[in-house]
Formats: sequence, C-alpha cells, structure tokens
Amino acid sequence: MCLLQQDLAAQDTSGPWSATTVFTPAAETGGVPLMEIVERFGTPAYVVDEADLRGRCRAFKDALPGADVAYAAKAFLCRAVASWIVEEGLSLDVCSGGELAIARSIGFPAERVIFHGNAKTPRELQQAVDDGVGRIVIDNLAEIARLAVLVPQGRRQKVLLRVIPDIEAGAHAAVRTGGEGQKFGLSIASGDAAVAVARVLGQPSLQLVGLHCHLGSQIDEVGPYVRAVRIMVEQYARVRDTHGVVLPELDLGGGQGIAYLEAEQGLSPHAYARAVLTALEERSAGLGLPAPRLTVEPGRAISGPAGLTLYRVIAVKRTLTRTFVAVDGGMSDNPRPSLYGARYTARLVGRTSRPAPPRDSATSANCAASATVTRQATLVGHHCEAGDVIAENVPLPADIRAGDVLAVAATGAYHHSMASTYNLTGRPPVVAVAGGAARLVVRREEIEDLMRREVGL
Ligand code: LLP
Repeated sequence: MCLLQQDLAAQDTSGPWSATTVFTPAAETGGVPLMEIVERFGTPAYVVDEADLRGRCRAFKDALPGADVAYAAKAFLCRAVASWIVEEGLSLDVCSGGELAIARSIGFPAERVIFHGNAKTPRELQQAVDDGVGRIVIDNLAEIARLAVLVPQGRRQKVLLRVIPDIEAGAHAAVRTGGEGQKFGLSIASGDAAVAVARVLGQPSLQLVGLHCHLGSQIDEVGPYVRAVRIMVEQYARVRDTHGVVLPELDLGGGQGIAYLEAEQGLSPHAYARAVLTALEERSAGLGLPAPRLTVEPGRAISGPAGLTLYRVIAVKRTLTRTFVAVDGGMSDNPRPSLYGARYTARLVGRTSRPAPPRDSATSANCAASATVTRQATLVGHHCEAGDVIAENVPLPADIRAGDVLAVAATGAYHHSMASTYNLTGRPPVVAVAGGAARLVVRREEIEDLMRREVGL
C-alpha cells in the first residue's frame, strides 16, 4: 500500500508536535535542526521546546484569568522547566521532597507551591512546612493531626482536603483517580470527607481554604469536569450549612488531554475554561455561594506536546507478519505504551526517504515527486522484553534502515519523569531549544553514574 506524506511543513499546534517543529525543508524544533541536536548530544535524547511550553502556560493563564494555574511537576520537572514556570507566573504542584528540592533550588516562591501526596513521609511534611509552601493537600484522616503538630506556634498552614467526587475519567484505569475504590482522597460517600472537614476546622494551626479533586489524566472532554464542579460546590454548601464557613478556593486538579497522534486535538484550555467557569458560576449562584477561586493543575497539557525524543535506528527486522524498527532507547525512557497502551507518532528525520519508483501510470500519479512510501512498522526499544514497544503500527518510510534517526512526538510529559535505568542503561539527556539555539539542561546519565551507586559487595 502506498500512503502519501505531503506538505509536512503544514504543522498545526493542536497536533502532537510542538508549535515550532517543522519537517521541511529539514526537521527542526525551536529553529534548531534535529540532526544538529543528534550530532551534539547523541541519542536517545529528549528535546524540549521552550517557546511551546511557555506558550501553553500562557494559553491556560489567558483562558482562566482569575484562576491560579499550577503546573503539575510530576509531568516533567527540571530546573530549567521550573524557571520557565515561575517566569510565566504559574504556581507549582509538587508531590515529593525531590520535586520540592528542585523548586527550592531555583528560588520558586514557596507561597506558590502546592504540596500533594497520598503517603507524604514525616520528613516531606516537615520540609513542606519548613519551606513555607502555600498549600498542603491533605489526603487522609491521619495526616490532619500529623501535620497540625508540625506547624510552628503563631503560624497557620493553609490546607486543602482532597476528596473523591466519584467520577471516572481518564485514558486508562491506572490514571483514573476520581472514583471510589482507588487510593487517593477522602470519600464523600462514606462520610470521611465530612469528618476531615470538621477535624481540620478544629485544628488552630491549620486553615482550611478549600477542597481538591483530581479526576484522572488524559481526559479529552469537558463533561467530567462539569460534573465534578457541581459535586464539589455542593460540598461547599454542606460545609457552610454545617460549620458556617465559606471556603474561598476550589482546586480541580489537572488531567487535560493532549494529541499523541496526527489526527488528534487534545482538550483546548479555552473549551475547558468555558465549561468549568460556567458550571462554577451557575452552581455557586444556585446554592447562594460566592464562586470560589479556581485552581487548576495541568501537567501533560503544558509540557507534553513541547517534548520530542530522538532515537537512532539500530536494526530493522522484517518478519513474516511485521516490520520491527529497533532503536537505541525504549521502555526505560518511555514506559507509557507498556503501562497504559499509549500510542505515539514517529517520523524520520535527517534524510529524505526515496520516493517509490512508479510501477504504473496510476501509481505514479498518486506518488508525486515529493511523496514518500510508508509501511506500517512497530517501533521497538533495546530492552530485554517483548513488551518493549515505543509505537505500535506507525507509518514509517518503507526504506527505513539502521543508522536513521527518528523523532517521536509528544514526549514532554511523563517520559523523563518516569524514566528508569532498566537493563542498566542511563537515562537520556534533556536538550532545551529556543530561538535557534540548543542547550543541555539535564545531562545524559552515564554508566559511571550507575556504577557510582555500587558501594559494597
Ligand atoms: N494534579 C494531581 C493531584 C495529579 O495527581 C496529577 C497527575 C496532575 C495534577 C496532573 O495531571 P495531568 O494534567 O498531567 O494529566 N503517568 C501517567 C499520568 C499520571 C498522572 C498522575 N497525576 C501517564 O503517563 O499518563
């Protein structure tokens, strides 16, 4: 079968590639040829498009002018990204002592940090209090007293309570966190959420500023968010009616979906904002409440499309049933296909694939001079298991061969942050591109780095 790849330059920011990524005349991101990045930094390499990431921060700020937009650091945090986030005026959602350390290291204002976690260690809680983080999101009943005693005399720690609205949303069971029967938050249905509200209000060192929920991840429609807003605001009415307290803030978490495939669009910040703000105004007014100030925590929707990964093809294997294109990375730099069945887009960079020789007049009319013949292939990694797949059934040039370089799109979120050293391979570097220049912001992890942890026999 002959598929045509035409006008590759016609990129749309809603697709899987970052806003500054083009493929003709040569593949480049942020004005930097991708082959230049390969030559300078090697493969595999994560590339992050600074302008694209900043642009997505602005899109959320523009769509939600009165709200607090907190970037979810778990999607991808390094010092460079943290500094862009602070410059763009966003807050930061962290969920570990490590993420907090990165924030602290670049002077991220602690007041703009939200600290999450369903099992924060005593040390993490202490660190959050010592740093003076703006908000701590309490996830369970035990944490209330545990946190209250850590707050120094004369101070009050602002807290949110994470509750379960019992809404199922998200691309895969492993990332659906809004329903009963998963580990996060306090159940509204069981009464735990109401107990927690009363206990927090009874702690003089804690200031309850609102409730939090996070429905799930890679959500591509507004419906679940609208339902969540209604359920949450009803809880605000309950708190007012029971305790005479009007909570000023509502944190709706993140989860906004992005495009991974060429034909996909992702959930636009404006569509999300319109639906959520309307529901918030309407339900609050209906219950005689002032609309609480909204906080949202997008992670993937800010850093996901800004990233791509560059790989070198090591081997091409044509079996009776499939073509495997094996590269020098894999499930250690992208565990998402094996964890969630995630799908990806890949493209050849660095050379133009040979057009197919015309077989007859009809074919030659279809395969114009600029066309490339593509075949379905399975992009696999170099790890020792059959599930080490990066992209199942992707169209790749029929003449793909060892030595070629491939770019995989939308790898800016939950790739670097979830990378492992499986098979004792070091994690790839992160190269930031902007305005025609590339710079290394996280260096490659070398075998020596891994060996350095070996301290005894
Ligand atoms: N807020 C909270 C409390 C969260 O737990 C998360 C993600 C976010 C915000 C940001 O969600 P996002 O906007 O990025 O969807 N490793 C999975 C995703 C796990 C998400 C965990 N929590 C993946 O690769 O799909």
